Amino acid sequence: MTDDAVRFKQQAGIEAAALVESGMVVGLGTGSTAIFATRRVAERLHSGELCNIVAIATSHATDAAARELGIPMLTDDIPREIDITIDGADEVDPSLDLIKGGGGALLREKIVAQASRRQVIVVDESKLSPRLGTHWPLPVEVLEFGWRSQKRFLERLGAVVTPRKNNGDLYRTDQGNMILDSRFGPFIHDVPVLAQGLGARAGIIEHGLFIGIAQDLIVAGVSGVRHMRR
Ligand code: A5P
Repeated sequence: MTDDAVRFKQQAGIEAAALVESGMVVGLGTGSTAIFATRRVAERLHSGELCNIVAIATSHATDAAARELGIPMLTDDIPREIDITIDGADEVDPSLDLIKGGGGALLREKIVAQASRRQVIVVDESKLSPRLGTHWPLPVEVLEFGWRSQKRFLERLGAVVTPRKNNGDLYRTDQGNMILDSRFGPFIHDVPVLAQGLGARAGIIEHGLFIGIAQDLIVAGVSGVRHMRR
């Protein structure tokens, strides 16, 4: 990652963290951009600028980082609606629809996003995409049982499918499932139809298409930080 990319991620994360208010339940995203927002929330908490917040993490990694930073955390349940969630994305299209799951956290990310009043996506400008699937394969989380059947199903839908690996072994999500990274040609032709098909298939736990979920996009790049709303 270039120094510029890191700086842009940081700028986007810091801008988003300013939207958190005292008393809120806050969803904390996963990845190298969302972590900047998490760190900034912790700074604001410790400086006294924020008080009485509680957070829920979208992955074990974020949970551990947030606890280390001293943010009060919920664990396995979401007892009331989340006021705001700040998360990253792998691709963002002009309608603010997303591909997520590059870090493998798509299932918890979608649960937290769907339980949130406001979903704020933070990215550097390299994540902007004219059509989803242009830059990034679609992560599909599958149960290990019968996973080759899901691979064939995805191939019949036109994807080139690569089981995700980690140091030579099959990658495991926080839930112990596998990820099938699925590239659908130069881009995904019909995102809602694909999402519906994947959602209806037993053995597919979740997919990385986040449609109509993001309300805000904060994108940082060479021309500064822009804040867009759906
Ligand atoms: C995690 O599973 C992903 O959805 C991340 O939010 C996404 O990959 C963005 O990551 P970076 O901010 O590290 O690019």
